[in-house]
Amino acid sequence: MNNETLKQQVKAFWNQASCGTNMTQQQKFTTSYFEEIEEARYRTEPEIFSFAQFTRFNGKKVLEVGVGAGTDFMQWVRAGTQAHGVDLTQEAIDNVSHRLEIYGLQVADVRVADAENLPYPDNQFDLVYSWGVIHHSPNTIKCLEEIIRVAKPGGTIKIMIYNRHSLYALYRWIFAGLLKGRPFQSLSKVLFYHQESIGTKAYTLKEMKNILARYPVGISQLTAPMTNHECSYYKARLWRWPAYLAACLWGMRRSGFFMLIELKKVI
Ligand SMILES: C[S@@+](CC[C@H](N)C(=O)[O-])C[C@H]1O[C@@H](n2cnc3c(N)ncnc32)[C@H](O)[C@@H]1O
Repeated sequence: MNNETLKQQVKAFWNQASCGTNMTQQQKFTTSYFEEIEEARYRTEPEIFSFAQFTRFNGKKVLEVGVGAGTDFMQWVRAGTQAHGVDLTQEAIDNVSHRLEIYGLQVADVRVADAENLPYPDNQFDLVYSWGVIHHSPNTIKCLEEIIRVAKPGGTIKIMIYNRHSLYALYRWIFAGLLKGRPFQSLSKVLFYHQESIGTKAYTLKEMKNILARYPVGISQLTAPMTNHECSYYKARLWRWPAYLAACLWGMRRSGFFMLIELKKVI
């Protein structure tokens, strides 16, 4: 499958429903619909706050790449940033537009755009933020290059991408590979075919460190911490204890599925 066909499939997948909207049964685009999505997101992933540090960027020019249903995007707006947002899908932009309207908020710019080809000149943003997005795009490295390009020299980049050498990836391999009679399917293949939209990629910390070495950025953070939410996937005690032990042995700061990357663009 070529990259263009793959991107159309990624787009079609996320156009059906933006990320996190399955957490509510409320009528679409109502206040309660958005409030339930937001409540569920930060109950399960409270770590987003300490990573994003929304309020630190008050007054700054921020771009969020891949806004999805816009829950984090709302935090940028409420924090008083000059918020810009893009997503590959019209569905995401519709979610964000309705959300802003409900709360009577306005933003600098929110539109459909491809992270592999950002519609902004070089050196524009104090912060470029992207949570769980660029590993879904066929050319993840092009997305990374675009994010670096549009960040200002001295600006900050915060990205979350999936960590292949994580407990969750192993868990997916057990259920979608091993127990489905495909024990020789690699972690990469399992995630490619069975993690959200088709074509999802995941990197190791070492791979990412090597990739980042090619670009004009300094690494402020490169970790994959195990979160409470991840531990709670393993509901039965039978699974939870070995999972917890495996995370302790592999390292609590590198066995999580969410790889947290914070960069400073070199001046
Ligand atoms: C898992 S969701 C994450 C959304 C949001 N950041 C969040 O955390 O809820 C992935 C999002 O990435 C978007 N996406 C995938 N490929 C993209 C691309 N090339 N350019 C822009 N957005 C893209 C999808 O449309 C989808 O909204």
